[in-house]
Amino acid sequence: MAHYNATQKPSTWPIQNNGLQDLIQWDHYSLIINGERIFLLGGEMHPFRLPVPELWEDILQKIKAMGMRMVSIYTHWGFHAPSSGKVDFETGSHNITRFLEMARDIGLYVFVRSGPYINGELSAGGMPLWVTTGVYGDLRLNGTAFTEAWTPYEDGLAQLVRPFQLTENGTVIMFQIENEYGNQWRNVNAKSPNMAAVSYMEKLEQNARKNGIVVPATHNAAGQSAKSWSRDYDTVQAGGDVDMYGLDSYPQCWSCVPASCGSSSPSPFAVSNYHDHFQQFQGGAMNPWDGPAGGCRDKTGASFVNFYYRDNIAQGVTILNLYMIYGGTNWGWLAAPFVGTSYDYSAAISEDRSIGAKFYEIKNLGLFTRVAHELAYTDRIGSGTTAYTNNSAIFVTELRNPKTRAAFYVLRHADTSSASPEAFVLVSIPTSVGNLTFPQISGPVMFNGHEGKIVVVDFHFGNHTLIYSTAEVLTYAIIDGVATLVLWAPTGVSGEFYLQGAAEGDVVSRETAQWLTVDKREHGIVVGFAQNEGRSIVEFDNGVRVILTDRSFAHKMWVPVLTNDPRAPVNETGLVIGPYLVRSAKLSISTPNTLSITGDSNTTTTIEVFTTTNISKIQWNGQNLPTSKNAHGSLTATIPGPAAFTVPTLKNMKWKSFDSLPERHRTANYSASSIAWVSANHTTTPSKTKGTVPYLFADEYGFHTGIRLWRGTFPSNTSATGVFLNVQGGTAHGWSAFLNGEFLGSFLGSANAATGNMTLLFPKTALLSGGDQENVLLVMHDDTGHDEGSAAVNIRGILNATLIGDGEFGSNSSKVPVFSSWKVAGTAGGGTGSSLDPIRTGYNEGGLTAERLGWHLPGFDDAAWPSNSPDEGVAGAGLQFYRTVLPLGLPAGLDVSLAFRFTPADGSNLAYRAYLYVNGYQFGRFYPAISSENTFPVPNGVLDYGGDNLIGLAVWAQSEAGARVRLELVVQYAVASSLMTHFDGAYLRPRWDARRLRYE
Ligand code: GAL
Repeated sequence: MAHYNATQKPSTWPIQNNGLQDLIQWDHYSLIINGERIFLLGGEMHPFRLPVPELWEDILQKIKAMGMRMVSIYTHWGFHAPSSGKVDFETGSHNITRFLEMARDIGLYVFVRSGPYINGELSAGGMPLWVTTGVYGDLRLNGTAFTEAWTPYEDGLAQLVRPFQLTENGTVIMFQIENEYGNQWRNVNAKSPNMAAVSYMEKLEQNARKNGIVVPATHNAAGQSAKSWSRDYDTVQAGGDVDMYGLDSYPQCWSCVPASCGSSSPSPFAVSNYHDHFQQFQGGAMNPWDGPAGGCRDKTGASFVNFYYRDNIAQGVTILNLYMIYGGTNWGWLAAPFVGTSYDYSAAISEDRSIGAKFYEIKNLGLFTRVAHELAYTDRIGSGTTAYTNNSAIFVTELRNPKTRAAFYVLRHADTSSASPEAFVLVSIPTSVGNLTFPQISGPVMFNGHEGKIVVVDFHFGNHTLIYSTAEVLTYAIIDGVATLVLWAPTGVSGEFYLQGAAEGDVVSRETAQWLTVDKREHGIVVGFAQNEGRSIVEFDNGVRVILTDRSFAHKMWVPVLTNDPRAPVNETGLVIGPYLVRSAKLSISTPNTLSITGDSNTTTTIEVFTTTNISKIQWNGQNLPTSKNAHGSLTATIPGPAAFTVPTLKNMKWKSFDSLPERHRTANYSASSIAWVSANHTTTPSKTKGTVPYLFADEYGFHTGIRLWRGTFPSNTSATGVFLNVQGGTAHGWSAFLNGEFLGSFLGSANAATGNMTLLFPKTALLSGGDQENVLLVMHDDTGHDEGSAAVNIRGILNATLIGDGEFGSNSSKVPVFSSWKVAGTAGGGTGSSLDPIRTGYNEGGLTAERLGWHLPGFDDAAWPSNSPDEGVAGAGLQFYRTVLPLGLPAGLDVSLAFRFTPADGSNLAYRAYLYVNGYQFGRFYPAISSENTFPVPNGVLDYGGDNLIGLAVWAQSEAGARVRLELVVQYAVASSLMTHFDGAYLRPRWDARRLRYE
């Protein structure tokens, strides 16, 4: 540990660029964009996990409002490439161009991560499922077939990204090659390269370059041991290195269930050492099927983000990308097997798009990093528990800018698991006016619980210097050439700051009952205060205005940027206090002297605005507000809360229902002769897996998602007495079998079983006897997605289907019963290679009659169906489809988040699965025997806020007890909002058409 000494010189690592452009440069301190060092805080969202482009704007505005400068995205190869050679970057939510335009217009840098492999808890890690059969050779390697498979997608993506790069006046600043591909070395220490992996990385990078991508290429390493693709580590010129190396890390374990993290599962609040090794960071944790209801928000909650992200800063991190900032939904069959419908991720912006304490807490740090320019260029001078404070329970890291000498002291508990209350002073801290011990006049600095704190020293803002502050800097803005600085402290805690060069300070506005003392010193003024809920304003004779706030007020303080410059120049911002959310602020073009602010309010709220003096009026979401100007220059007005509204009760709707499993019946009653059926007759397979012949591996017959139906026939004159079946559908899958329409049994599934086998005996009543007839065995299974990584090739389908009969037991081998034929049905259009629903894609549906015939779609005519609700349910095993129409008439100007919640209507029977379809989108999978996940938010756009909505429900009763399930519509939240919620989203909800009839 060493204190700063004045001879400290910047270390001399070279500033680098990639030789293709010089607008984006970097060294070991930070990124340098347009010649300016920046602290880059970003957050991840996945456009495909929110299939409504109109709502991407909502998320992007929220990210911007957090003070972040960047949004990071995965694009999903499989989603964009429905079949080999075909790509779609236009239809509906495939329109990545639209996303990039929004990000540019809102003023966010974009980090594009296209894979081709992205992992992301996605089926096959985002690779198209048509590459999982084995015919494309080794996945994620340099073979010709695999290269040809990804090329059209990577070409298309790179070409659309090209004009959005910073170098083309756009905002894309980084491009990631592959994802967590730690394969550069056969032996990491010996640096002996894996040449096939190197060649794969090189092909991917060259392909991006060939298509005009010039921004820095990055990679994110999964952990610190593989040391792959770093120019610095690759001293042997192995090749494949990217421009900037990045690290992926999940300090609290990436899953809500610690067991998934094995021995690496950390104790809460443990810190990792990233000092030499970082770049990506944890924004939440994903929740597996058997995870806690609602995820694990506390584990990565407001207190975690406060503490942990500050510790990252202590370790020298200047590029921090939070995975996820908005998780969204694994709708349809996008997910990997171990996770269900929600990808809420306990992220700062919830799956239902609401924001709360975690969001606000990240915002407080985000706004600080956006103005703390000196933070992007610091050396770690020292750290420890004794040198900086009088309390050894406190661990301090000193960062100091080698040029301006600004310092950032990052404070936390030494024992990171401790939340003990602590009080202390900083001792003998070097400042531009000598060594100081502070606070000098206020009470000590306090920790109440798990917190981090950044104490600034010689922090420069505008032309001014803050010699120190024990309250954190929230932000500052230069308004009319004058600096307004905002400091915050936890509610009830005291703070103190020392402002250089001021001779007088005047408290012009004071929150009630505040203790506040202004004290003149040799080099300026010291202000001590104890901050209760509210805000105070102190004006100094050198023109500086300081706003003091507590945490609760700081949470509702916004710093909208008046332009779309992602750097957010401090003289292009305003301050707004009060609303639930401020999305933007612009000088009104139509109304003079007016600041036009947009945002959300959840209740009637007083807002206070600090902006340039020639503004005298406030417009909120397009409405001119009666505005008053205070003596100290701010404007106040009142904004309305959300209007009242009602939504219908689903239980009271008129439901209709129909049998969706006619395929279980014998051939006389169901012939399986439509184009929906493909003959499953392969006697050889490209898969490395072997099974009984013919191979019953779904993907090689063109069916990749959801429920598959297998129909095996065998003659009536055999001695079959039963069947042994082994089905592989991924963890949490299930299956049922029927003989000539009679139920044989179900594998109910569990969160851990990827395969399920059973021997099922044929009831005598079910077998056809005599004559030349065919017995029909129907096996229905769902497939919860393909595994990630190299396990993506694990087959989905039936590994073993063996009839059991007399011959089986050796008495007469000629009588061994065998299947005469097999057929399979899956997603309509899958088998013939064409997709019937380019908007919702093949990921949305499987092979149920209801899906093939489009019962899930708006526009299908169910007039002839009998009435029956899911609550009444059905008797016996099978699959029943329910439909109803939900009319919505939500008022304009409201952002309402609706969700569908399932509860078992009969708690004693959970042997069923229910699949929710909203206007054709499969937006919920309720597996009550396996998972507590029962509430499924559905975004506007999938829903129609101002019209009729088709609600479909497939209920798979896995036992003779049948199934009864209750479905409710819940209002998650409602805010009055500037967000355009009544857009024309019909293009996202294509209707039923007659092509479906061919898939009977
Ligand atoms: C990362 C990976 C992501 C995602 C995450 C866990 O390491 O790159 O794709 O899987 O882990 O949620």
